[in-house]
Order: sequence, then structure tokens, then C-alpha cells
Amino acid sequence: MFLNKLGLSLVRFFPPEISSKLSLRSLEILYRIGMHGALSTNQEGVESIQKMGLTFPNRIGIAGGLDKNAEYFHILNALGFGFVEVGTFTLKPQKGNPKPRVHRYMKEENIVNSLGFNNVGVYEGIKNIEKNKPSFEGILGISIGKSKETKIEDAFKDYLHLIDYVYQHADYIAVNISSPNTENLRNLSLSDYFSSLIEKVMNKREQLAKGADTRKPIVLKISPDESEENFEKIIEKSMETNVDGLIINNTSINHLKGVKGGISGNYIRNISEKNLKFARSICDENLTLISSGGLMTKKDIENRLRLSADLIQLYTGFIFRGTDLLKESLEIQ
Ligand SMILES: Cc1cc2nc3c(=O)[nH]c(=O)nc-3n(C[C@H](O)[C@H](O)[C@H](O)COP(=O)(O)O)c2cc1C
Repeated sequence: MFLNKLGLSLVRFFPPEISSKLSLRSLEILYRIGMHGALSTNQEGVESIQKMGLTFPNRIGIAGGLDKNAEYFHILNALGFGFVEVGTFTLKPQKGNPKPRVHRYMKEENIVNSLGFNNVGVYEGIKNIEKNKPSFEGILGISIGKSKETKIEDAFKDYLHLIDYVYQHADYIAVNISSPNTENLRNLSLSDYFSSLIEKVMNKREQLAKGADTRKPIVLKISPDESEENFEKIIEKSMETNVDGLIINNTSINHLKGVKGGISGNYIRNISEKNLKFARSICDENLTLISSGGLMTKKDIENRLRLSADLIQLYTGFIFRGTDLLKESLEIQ
């Protein structure tokens, strides 16, 4: 109980960006001294699930951006998460946007972040993956995004290079075209860019699949701020090009907090549910739907599974409620 609250206490006392790091570092220390068992969840009776040709130990994962540099995914897996999405990685290291760039609202349980893909770059990221993967028994997603300085017309080159680098290290690859914190990135989901980007990405996957012994799933991370019309186009094009899954959804810029960035947590629960429902109503079952956004309680997770989410990703709920939320989530399975 005390340990469950450890992360939360740190969250309260320090500025948000520092407290996240401290919480993860504390977990790492517990892991190193073999004490993480006190936080681990009971996996008895939890059934594995087959999706996108992969066996997920359970349906509950960690969303992109918590383990930006692939330093902690094995520890998150040891706590009980069935899958972890590391990154988002860019080709070169990036510092991200000026601080303060993470604002948390404790009572409302929301976060607004404008981090801007701060990460060590894909080369260092892969080194970390190679180091930590032997201690990992889950499914590893690697999230990729375009660099800040890459022009939107050249964005596809970044994604194709990134896929080349991460292909053999990932169980699946998440193509992030929905962060609000890299200028113009969201234009990639508009039809002009989207069709051509997604065709190139999927061709690249086919090319790599031929040379390797496995076809790695490609999933797209979608913005909650798409118009219904464009969202529908994205889903149709994804089915046409054999995209394996959609992550519905990233943070939203539709808020009145008076600070820059995308909001997550309670505030985006309804829109995330609505988008999941919409996607499920038009997509076929070959497209795996991964629900992310505003999953703060056991009831939220029950609702998403009822709306036919195949997999669940936690972020802000885990920041505020720690392993309690993970434990409750796994009880539902
Ligand atoms: C501080 C912070 C950093 C994030 N960084 C990333 C990122 O690098 N890549 C990504 O795909 N999503 C990122 N996200 C979005 C989350 O993965 C998640 O999709 C979003 O927060 C909605 O889920 P939630 O309401 O449960 O937090 C970030 C979110 C937060 C709060």
C-alpha cells in the first residue's frame, strides 16, 4: 500500500516533469534491489490475447511517451503491464520545447503537456532496448515521429528511415502522426499527405517483411481532434492499406487551460470513448483498436472493453493512481 502510493507522493511534491522521472527512477531502484515484487500485480487467471499476430500476456499496456527513452519498459512489464510502447523516437536526439512544458491539475486529474518529442534519438533508444529486452516478457511497441526540423514534405523520409532502424527490435511499430507538440505534424493526417505517407510506410513494411522472417504490425496513433469526416477517411485508408491497428487516441488541443499543449486524463474520457465507438462501427475486425485517453478508473476500462476495444493503454491514470489502477484493470480480464 505504501509502495503503491510512492509514485503518487512524488507526483504531489515536485514539478510534474521531475516527479515523473523520480517515480520511474524509484521504481528502478526497487527493481534493482528485488523489491518491485511488492508492487507487482497478481497475473493468476489473466488470459493472454492474440492480436495482430502477437500474443499479448494481457490487454493492459503503457501508452507512448512514459518511457520515452526505453529505460524502464522491462520494469513496467515486471509490474504487470502486458505491453509497453516506448518512444516516441526521432532520428536524432531532441531537447523538446522550452520548459515548463508539463502542467498537471491534481483535483481534475488532467495533464497538459507540450514536450515536443524530447528523446535521446533512435540510435541510443535501440541501445537501451537491446540492454533491457532480455528482462522483458511482454510485447514491445516502438513509437516513431518526425524530427522538429524536418519539413512536412519530407516527413515520410524520417518515418521510412525510422522503420528501417526499429524493425528488428519492435514487436509492433506505432507511427505517431498525432502529437500536437511538433509544428505541422498533425497535417500528416490530412488526406493529401496521409494517403501518400501511409502507402509508403506500408510498402516499406512489406519490403522489410520479405527480408526478415516476420511481418511486424504497423499501428497509427490518431488525434482526438480529427473531424468525423477525416477520421472516417483515415480508417478507410488504413483498412485499404492493411494497417494492423489504430491507437485511439492521443492528447487533445481542445481545452481552455490557457497553457500550450495537449490535454490528457479525465478531460478526454468522453471524446476517446466516442472515437472508439465510431471506429468500431465502421472498421472490420482485421483492424485492431487500441484505446488510449481518459482511462482513469476500473469503470473506464470496463466501458472501453464493452465498446470493443481490443487493447488498452494507460498513461495519465497510471500517473495519478499508480499500480492500484493496473491491479483493478487486470481484475476485469
Ligand atoms: C507527459 C506526456 C507525454 C506524452 N508523450 C507521448 C509521446 O511521446 N508519444 C505518444 O505517442 N504519446 C504521448 N503522450 C500521449 C499518451 O500516450 C496518451 O495517448 C494520452 O496521454 C492520452 O491518454 P491518457 O488520457 O490516459 O493520458 C504523452 C502524454 C503525456 C501526458
